Amino acid sequence: MQRPDHDYSDTMTENGAASGEHSDAAKYDFMVVSNRLPVDRCAAGEPGDDGSGWRRSPGGLVTALAPMMTKTDGAWVGWHGAPDETVEPFSHGSMDLVPVQLSTDDVELYYEGFSNATLWPLYHDVIAPPEFHRTWWEAYRSVNRRFADAVVRHADHGATVWVQDYQLQLVPRMLREARPDLRIGFFNHIPFPPPEIFAQLPWRHAIIDGLLGADLVGFQRSSDAGNFMRSARRFLGASVKQQQVHVKGANGDITHIARAQAFPISIDVQQISELARKPEIIERARQIRQDLGNPKTILLGVDRLDYTKGIRHRLKAYEELLNEGKLKVGDATLIQVASPSRERVEQYRLLREEVEGTVGHINGTYDTIQNTAVRYLHHSYPIEEMVALYLAADVMLVTALRDGMNLVAKEYVTARTNNDGALVLSEFAGAADQLKQALLMNPHDIDGLKDTVMRAVRMSAKESARRMRSMRKQILDHDVDYWSAEFLHALNEKVVRDDS
Ligand code: G6P
Repeated sequence: MQRPDHDYSDTMTENGAASGEHSDAAKYDFMVVSNRLPVDRCAAGEPGDDGSGWRRSPGGLVTALAPMMTKTDGAWVGWHGAPDETVEPFSHGSMDLVPVQLSTDDVELYYEGFSNATLWPLYHDVIAPPEFHRTWWEAYRSVNRRFADAVVRHADHGATVWVQDYQLQLVPRMLREARPDLRIGFFNHIPFPPPEIFAQLPWRHAIIDGLLGADLVGFQRSSDAGNFMRSARRFLGASVKQQQVHVKGANGDITHIARAQAFPISIDVQQISELARKPEIIERARQIRQDLGNPKTILLGVDRLDYTKGIRHRLKAYEELLNEGKLKVGDATLIQVASPSRERVEQYRLLREEVEGTVGHINGTYDTIQNTAVRYLHHSYPIEEMVALYLAADVMLVTALRDGMNLVAKEYVTARTNNDGALVLSEFAGAADQLKQALLMNPHDIDGLKDTVMRAVRMSAKESARRMRSMRKQILDHDVDYWSAEFLHALNEKVVRDDS
């Protein structure tokens, strides 16, 4: 592979085409493409600023991919989070980053619109009603094209390209047409809906066709892979055999075989375990408990402020437990970290109002001068503070109504190096497939959720240790390096054509 010389003489133009010759661009034999880069542009001194005008991007995708990318020579293509700003390719930490520009209109139509007000709710069990607008779809197509152009410009001959998530589902097909020499993988970090729900999407044909441009389409759960293949059959008439489709080009000839398979994503186990053993982080956890008045039980929720996370259900169950006297302020406190997310999308604005109204109501009713019922924090925190919170919490509440994986659940378990604590986990989170020793529950069943929370609060040290040990083993054996190695190994496997 030719290493980049960081003399990026070609600059991106508005439509994503290079103003210089392709041959001038730094070339890579491994590229990751996602809507977001691992860092976001921010003003100097803004919360999260790492001192260079950049801060870590939100969400599980970046949590999972950043450790892998720091260990490879590849490049990461994505948006840098600042509308209308052109940023040249640059290095951050040990990563080479290739920014893609989005205009204010792109952000509104492609990102907030089609990605987060059409696809996100559609793929998460239509918890919120998806909106379908043709102008959003047009923007989605043209922005996907811009990402594909950036890859085409920087990919070496025969490079491996790994496209990420629902914002970029058309990119695999675009790459296949422009650069048949590439090995193309796609990974969907969020659920893939059953065909009965996917059917609502007016552009369902184009989305399936876009994904089938990849050699390998990865999903979190095998049910997601199954849903995708059933949609391929139903909406494209694809003939699917053993999770494989023989994909045809414009002239009717078979261009490649696309496969679909589950690869449950994970976390950087080593990083979290090391942090959890650091004396200053253990001390910080003790401090957090003390600041809250040393309650017997600290319950913890950590989520992006998103309607898929079941925060309202969690608060409802907690309030009822306080009301019934099963939990008492002073004995118990709930810390709810709700990191800001997609704040200009209507459903997210409404959710914030509702959650903050409910927290205010609970605290107004149950707080004492000394103690609080809910410590609500609308911030994101560095990983060190998160690990201190995991160590401080006796019970972790993951009550998602639908979630691709939920890496917070895996982080909590990994941080509990003493094999104590309890994880209450929604059966609708992908993590439930692997963490079978969590206290699994259905968050829609408020009575069931309350019972499960009380089981967690009262759990004996012996039971806690038994469950934690088994969950920790699962995660330690399947960390994020295992995930990426498995995916990339499968992507580069030679697939035998079965013409029978
Ligand atoms: C989820 C998605 C990611 C997304 C992240 C944060 O983890 O799977 O693709 O980046 O949420 O959301 P945002 O819209 O801020 O990028």
